[in-house]
Amino acid sequence: MKRFIPILFAFVLCGCVTTKRERIAEDQATFVIAFGSCNKVELENHLWDDILSTKPDVWIWGGDNIYADTEDMSQMANMYAAQNQVPGYQKLRIGVPVIGTWDDHDYGRNDGGAEFNAKRESQQVFLDFMKVPQDSPRRERDGVYSSHEYATRYGKVKVLVLDTRFFRSPVTPDLDTDKRLKPNAYGEGTLLGAEQWKWLEEELGNSDASFNIIVSSIQLLSNLHGFEGWGNFPHEVDRFKELALKTEAKGVIVLSGDRHISEFSEIKVPALGYPLVDFTSSGLTHAYRDFSGEPNPYRIGKVISTESFGVVRLNLKENKAHFEMVGDEGKVLASMKRAY
Ligand SMILES: [Fe+2]
Repeated sequence: MKRFIPILFAFVLCGCVTTKRERIAEDQATFVIAFGSCNKVELENHLWDDILSTKPDVWIWGGDNIYADTEDMSQMANMYAAQNQVPGYQKLRIGVPVIGTWDDHDYGRNDGGAEFNAKRESQQVFLDFMKVPQDSPRRERDGVYSSHEYATRYGKVKVLVLDTRFFRSPVTPDLDTDKRLKPNAYGEGTLLGAEQWKWLEEELGNSDASFNIIVSSIQLLSNLHGFEGWGNFPHEVDRFKELALKTEAKGVIVLSGDRHISEFSEIKVPALGYPLVDFTSSGLTHAYRDFSGEPNPYRIGKVISTESFGVVRLNLKENKAHFEMVGDEGKVLASMKRAY
């Protein structure tokens, strides 16, 4: 089921921009993304066969791909090796390209940020798992962010995978309520860091893709739950929206994870011309089954608190996106469609 023909591995070196271009079948009008997060290798993942059944053009790891929580790199590498031995994942890997990012547990520290001492070593182990070649420029730069482009004659899909850990400034504990965190003072601290922001500005600025998929381990829109999220850096949420507007990037869609629940969030940015969707899909092997509700002013539809993965079908001919949360045995748990 090899549906991709890599046409060139173009390392466009502009500062430290790296874009890997791939072309799917020339006449393919629908591009299928499957993604998911929060995967304990010590638990059984029942979803690999269902993921494969969606015939994805790419599988995107959304973070917490293993739960390592360690500075011991051989222990971390062993967990990735165990993941690589999972038969369902091996089957997926045969025909489906795999890209992705990390979150805190595979980074190496729960709720960890820039302060994590072993981050450079951990990055190399992560890049090994992603099968990034030893001579890739990604081995030399800080952080695991990356750009991927897929083209058909109907248009392109660009996937910009972010790193929300390597550069992340300290977050603010909430000592007044029972929530874990509260937003930093406006303007204080950074989630992406200066270099990654510069890269993102260039990548969105030079994009001629019909869809620009932003992969963020943590949620961009939902901001009242008190856990990790872009909402703890409210100035960077605004910066992101302004960037989408300024670059006039088409079809910006955010994919996130981390929460052990799955939900759609959406805001209207009038000048953008289309709704900004944040599709959260989590987790693959364990979910927040006791979930009893939490406020999210941007939620569309219901929260899914059983194991699931996300599917996004991008129709490049009609500029439409079909979003699905999928559970065991391929059961569609929630879905929505949007026009771009
Ligand atoms: Fe998780």
